[in-house]
Parts: sequence; structure tokens; C-alpha cells
Amino acid sequence: MNTKDLRVNGKRLQQTLEDMAKIGATPAGGVQRLTLSDEDKKARDLFVKWIKELDMEVIIDEMGNIFGKRAGKNNDLPPVMSGSHIDSQPKGGRFDGILGVMGPLEIVRTLHENKIETERPIIIADWTNEEGSRFAPAMLSSGVWAGALERDWAYDRTDINGLRFEDELIRIGYKGTVPAKNWPMHAYYEYHIEQGPMLEKDKKTIGAPKGILCLHWYDIYLDGEANQVGPTPMEGRHDALCACAEMILKVNELPDRMGGNMVATVGEIQNYPNSRNIIPDKVHFTVDIRSWDDELGIKSWELVRKDFEEIAAKRGCPIRIEETWRVEHAPFDEKLVQGILDVSKELGYSSLHMVSGAGHDASYMNQLAPAAMIFVPSIGGRSHVEVENTTWEDCESGANVLLHAMLKSANEV
Ligand code: GLV
Ligand code: MN
Ligand code: MN
Repeated sequence: MNTKDLRVNGKRLQQTLEDMAKIGATPAGGVQRLTLSDEDKKARDLFVKWIKELDMEVIIDEMGNIFGKRAGKNNDLPPVMSGSHIDSQPKGGRFDGILGVMGPLEIVRTLHENKIETERPIIIADWTNEEGSRFAPAMLSSGVWAGALERDWAYDRTDINGLRFEDELIRIGYKGTVPAKNWPMHAYYEYHIEQGPMLEKDKKTIGAPKGILCLHWYDIYLDGEANQVGPTPMEGRHDALCACAEMILKVNELPDRMGGNMVATVGEIQNYPNSRNIIPDKVHFTVDIRSWDDELGIKSWELVRKDFEEIAAKRGCPIRIEETWRVEHAPFDEKLVQGILDVSKELGYSSLHMVSGAGHDASYMNQLAPAAMIFVPSIGGRSHVEVENTTWEDCESGANVLLHAMLKSANEV
């Protein structure tokens, strides 16, 4: 068969995504498949079953990353890899991550049924804990695999209930024996929903990001003094939640103060003892800063950190700051990105050269090999929410772009 005419099976991809969406389905149409939860295990088991059906070699490393390897004609050549993540946000959507694992699965199914061999091996990857919402930081296991993060540090990360990453990995049976250590790669592609409004706004089908913003995460711990809210005068209080409230607004104002080109968010907060009639004496909250300009990200953090220290001193609330994680902005391989734009054109899809505001495992893969991503539109620009949606037609179109981009790379010798 002339591979030029090859197309994925859109109906099969839809069915696969619908089957996966049942695992951890939420009443409002989303998915909750937190990293290393029972739902994550169930979805992993299904993925492993599917890759085995394609006679792929299954590799599970010590971070629980799952790889499905399809042999090439020459297995000494570095493989072409494509992957993303099976885990989701709490009350997340049915496409974030999973599309980037089921997409390449559909590619291999298409090659398999058409008996098409490639020069290089093809590997599908499911990276453990991309979301970082149960165990911070995000992209934890692709980070270890890339050599950017320490395995034992990752093992000791704990969730809100104090459960350790490694213990949970063992509990669900996915602590493999293969070292989480990168091997040579010829190219890495990640297929994903856009998670923003640009493609829909521009009426484009395919997005080819030139790269991903830098991502900086911080954890702030405040101490106050608990007391009965009724008899305790307002004067002289050490209210940790009020200190936090002032700090949150400083974070929200930061992009304006810095002249734009960045975003800053407080998304998580824990307040203790969380009783309406006790002055809060402990607060933990998170800060997420993103920009294309790494320096701007750092400068803005330094500014807001000073604000935090002043607020903490003014309110008599001791502060502890943890600089949890930083990943630099990732400019993708220009040739590979152009390849995505070219393939889109050849297949008759409109496309947009853009930027990714969302973080992806491709950030770490980009440090190892030429990397690029393929985006498809998010309806209403909504993501990390239960109503997250993308048309089946767009899912199919993106998979066709992935198919031909991967075929091209996998046949380069
Ligand atoms: C990953 O989901 C992110 O936070 O962008
Ligand atoms: Mn994702
Ligand atoms: Mn996500």
C-alpha cells in the first residue's frame, strides 16, 4: 500500500477514548483518574492489554512509566517515540493526556492491520504523574527518565494524606524493574488537546506549538495563632488565612506589574483547622508562574517573594517557602514543527503556529531529542474541567497528522 493514502480509523479511536473515559468517569461527564489511584491502575491495565494485542514489547520502569515498543526493520536505530499521560486532574476532562496515549496506539493499530513496517522502532509512552495534582511536581516521571529529577526524591513525594509516591506505585503493581533512564531517541511527538482558545478562535484544526512556557512551582506554609473567634479582639490577631489572602492577590496582580507575557496562579490552598469559629493557624498554598521568558518568571517570583515576606512580618505570621520545581521554557525542534505544519497542509487541514501554555512531558523529552507537539481544538477553550471536549472529527484529524509525522521520522535512516 502507498502509505501516502494511509489514514487512521477515527471510529476505533473514538471507541478507545470512550472506553478509557469510563474509567474514573464523573457524573458531570469528566474523568477523575488521579496518579497511582485504583482508576489509574485500571486504565493502565487496559492500555497494557491493548499494546500486548499488537505484539508490542511492554516495558515498565521503576517510575511506573509504561512503554509499548513495536520493532522496526533495523532495531539498532534509535526509535521514534510518542506519548503523554493516562492520569488526570481531580474532576478533569476526557481528553487531556489520554489522547496522546491512545493517539499513537491508533497509529500502531493502523500500521499493524496494514502490515506496514518502519525502518526504526516505534515506542508509545505513558508517563506517570504528568498532572502533579496528587504528587507535586508535574511531569515527575518523564523528568526522572530525562535525568532532570532524582528518582529517590520523586519516590518520597507525598500526597495530601501523607502517602508516598513509591508506596502507591508498589500498591498498584506498577513499580517496574527497568531503570528510569532515557535511551537514545530519534524524535519525540506528543499529541494533545490545545487546552486553550486559540485554535477555535482562529478556526484552525491543527496547532503546531513552537514550544512550551517555562513552569515554576512554589509551596508556601504560613503559621498563625489559633483562637476563639468571638472573644478574641481583631487587634493583635495572627490570622494565617488573612495573610494568605493578601498574598494571593499579589500573585494575581503580578503579570500586570511585570508588563504581561506571563501568567501567575494560586490554585491550591489548605487551611487549618478549617473551622468557621477558629482563627486559622496554618495555611499551605501553591504558586504557579509561567512565561516564555524564564528570566521574567524568576524576576517576578523574586518580587512577589519579597511581598510575601513583608505581609508575613506585618501580620506576625511566620512563613516558610519551598521552591518546589522549575522547568525551563522548551523551544521545540524547528524542523519537526515545520514537519507538522507541512503534513497538516498535505492532508488538507488548516493549521496554526502557536505556543503551549500548558505543561507537557514533551518539555523534558525536548531536552533529549528533537521534539514537537500536535494540538487539536478544545471546545470553548476549556480544559482541566469536566466539560473539556474536542470533536471526534478533530481527534481523527490530529491522529492522521501524528501518523504521517511519525511515519516520516520512523523511515528516516
Ligand atoms: C499540566 O497539566 C499543566 O499544569 O499545564
Ligand atoms: Mn496533559
Ligand atoms: Mn493536564
